[in-house]
Amino acid sequence: MTDTLIELFEQSNGAFISGERLSGILGVSRTAVWKQIERLKQQGYLFESVPRKGYRLLSAPEKFPLPSFLTNLRTEVFGRQLKYVEEVESTQAVAQRLIQDGAAEGLLVLAERQTAGRGRLGRRWHSPKGKGLWFSLVLKPDWLNMARTPQLTLLTAVALCRAVRSVTSLDAGIKWPNDLLVDGKKVGGILLEASVENGTLTHVIAGIGISVNLTPADYPDELLEKATSLCIAAGRKIDRAELLAAVLAEWERLYKLYREEGFAPVKLLWEALTVSLGREIVCTTPHGQARGFAERIDDQGALILRLEDGSRQTLYSGDIDFR
Ligand code: BTN
Repeated sequence: MTDTLIELFEQSNGAFISGERLSGILGVSRTAVWKQIERLKQQGYLFESVPRKGYRLLSAPEKFPLPSFLTNLRTEVFGRQLKYVEEVESTQAVAQRLIQDGAAEGLLVLAERQTAGRGRLGRRWHSPKGKGLWFSLVLKPDWLNMARTPQLTLLTAVALCRAVRSVTSLDAGIKWPNDLLVDGKKVGGILLEASVENGTLTHVIAGIGISVNLTPADYPDELLEKATSLCIAAGRKIDRAELLAAVLAEWERLYKLYREEGFAPVKLLWEALTVSLGREIVCTTPHGQARGFAERIDDQGALILRLEDGSRQTLYSGDIDFR
């Protein structure tokens, strides 16, 4: 019914359609029509409703410009196979299915909207329609020992951060291990899901969420305090196709560098972009909280915390807050 409703409004070229007419055409009650319109509003459609005249469509959410993305894409492997979906629960799950069907390294799953986007530590990822880059990339680093997975996370954060900086000119920074911050608020996150056989990685599904063109109205209240979008921070809309192409180019370049030269060059780049080191932090891990001074990252990509008693603690994952 939603698709027919959208078609009706698109055919009406911005003219009002009464609730009565809509309910007649669709064969449902006027309350059902109203409910569908409310649902569409949540998906980014903008309507004007006037008593006795009905509803008219003011604007529809933007579609990802695939042709422009393909023109911008400069990679050899990353994103060269593409699965674009309008709406999905989570691109991670789609990528997982495609791997089972034999998907190769570099396959990209991109969604316009996720209804159950997954974040780290079992959290939800807010992924409204047409406003962000919600995607998963299939990696097959069978040359990499499992213990080095955290390095891959840091590498991905560097790629994201560099691409965001070059496309938007914003002063984006990385919060350990892999949050992308602008103006002290989160604009992007990374979720790496790895599959291992005999201590070696068979595949990794790297899920990236970048809040690109969300406006404050697109956020639930509880997120507004901690999250922002590139559009809010830059004061202008950002071209999603250009940004995605830039992320993939940076990512593929660093991935090759890492494979050939190891973690050292990636670590240097990460250190140059992080906002986490050299400050007092609180880190929440699955095993409790740790407080101390974030001294450095080690050669594995773990965070070294200097505790109040002068001892050191090594953290492999967690969520940090600045004190
Ligand atoms: C985080 O918690 O910071 C990680 C967020 C990762 C979100 C992305 S959006 C695309 C991909 N699909 C998902 O369900 N999650 C990741």
